[in-house]
Amino acid sequence: MTTAPTDLSPLAVTQLIETLAHFSGPGPGVTRLVYDEAWCGAQLWLATQARARGLVDTRDSAGNLYLHDPRRPPGPIFLSGSHLDTVREGGALDGAYGALAGMLLAAALRGATPVPVVGLVTCEEEGSRFPSAFLGARAITGRVAPGESESLRDETGASWREALMAAAALGCAAPGGVEKGATAPQPVIGFLELHIEQGPVLESEGLELGIVERIAGFRRARIRLHGEARHAGTTPMRMRRDALAAAAEIALAVERIAREHGEPSVATVGAMHATPGLYNVVAGSCEMRLDLRHVRADALGRLAYAIEATAREIALRRNVTFAWDLVSRQEPIAMDAGFVETAVALATAQGVKHRAMASGAGHDAMIFAAAGVPSLMLFVPSQGGISHHPDELTAPKQLAAGIEFARTLLPALTERVAGRRA
Ligand code: HGY
Ligand code: MN
Ligand code: MN
Repeated sequence: MTTAPTDLSPLAVTQLIETLAHFSGPGPGVTRLVYDEAWCGAQLWLATQARARGLVDTRDSAGNLYLHDPRRPPGPIFLSGSHLDTVREGGALDGAYGALAGMLLAAALRGATPVPVVGLVTCEEEGSRFPSAFLGARAITGRVAPGESESLRDETGASWREALMAAAALGCAAPGGVEKGATAPQPVIGFLELHIEQGPVLESEGLELGIVERIAGFRRARIRLHGEARHAGTTPMRMRRDALAAAAEIALAVERIAREHGEPSVATVGAMHATPGLYNVVAGSCEMRLDLRHVRADALGRLAYAIEATAREIALRRNVTFAWDLVSRQEPIAMDAGFVETAVALATAQGVKHRAMASGAGHDAMIFAAAGVPSLMLFVPSQGGISHHPDELTAPKQLAAGIEFARTLLPALTERVAGRRA
């Protein structure tokens, strides 16, 4: 059965992005928390789009979605995709662009590559619902810790396992749990992720394409400070153990230390929650959420050490107790050098304005690469470098150009790994 060629035009891609963005919770921008109603709606809708392009859809027990040729032979597969979960009040492109691109590329390249290209939609790349990132990619590659589906809980106390059961009831995940080894349906011998850059580099240099050589590693930590809640009117300043004031000094120290360590070091206090949180009570407790990153493991280690040591010293001097919990970490990692070389050569031959670059953002590709799967990322420009915000934007022709380049690149990438086992 021949089907019409897959429409990869700027208009077609933009219409898909705009429709997908409607699957969101309330509030500005796009909010899709993994396995919630908006996320399941988006996943089911993308599967219908895939079926309309001659593909079939299957899910694994983590809720990852695979979009593939119904005649796909058994044996190794080459995945291309990204995530549908978002940060709260995020943009319409982070993850969604790569997930749609993977579906379109799987449809456009059916039967045209020595290793089948399978579209992939992963789960919980962001860690917006659960305090750990890349759950889907970790399940695919067999990197879920024993008991993690029970111990990992969202802010309502629901476990990953319970959330998965609810998703399975909606048809968005297969039953079976995530702790019985890799959930990939077949051996994975390559991964390509298209993504918006989420930074200012490509736009500022007038470039159309980023070929990612390495992805920054990160540490995500929760700091808990405990002092004494006291009457705001009667407690002299000299007698206070103010947890929020300590957190404020720590937050400024985090910013100072990252600047002192020099670019591309970055460190962020993304949230502070003080209790009891009243006008007339000195804060007795405060919880802080930290995110630290660097493209080199040694520099990331030094940054984390300096920030933790300084934070401890501030808490001690202010006579508040200090607890540092590392909630998530990922080492910096290189993309497949052969894939990078092939992509640079092709972009040069095609006259595409491009550069090789690092990614300051974390991505599913780093999990596949860490699992030994040859991986590559392609970036398209972000207007104003804006991301994790409703104003996230990339020109339709740039979105389409990224997919078109990937369509010409995938035969060469699959050729490089054809014949490999997983
Ligand atoms: O936070 C990140 O780096 C990515 O958006 N998950
Ligand atoms: Mn993101
Ligand atoms: Mn992303």
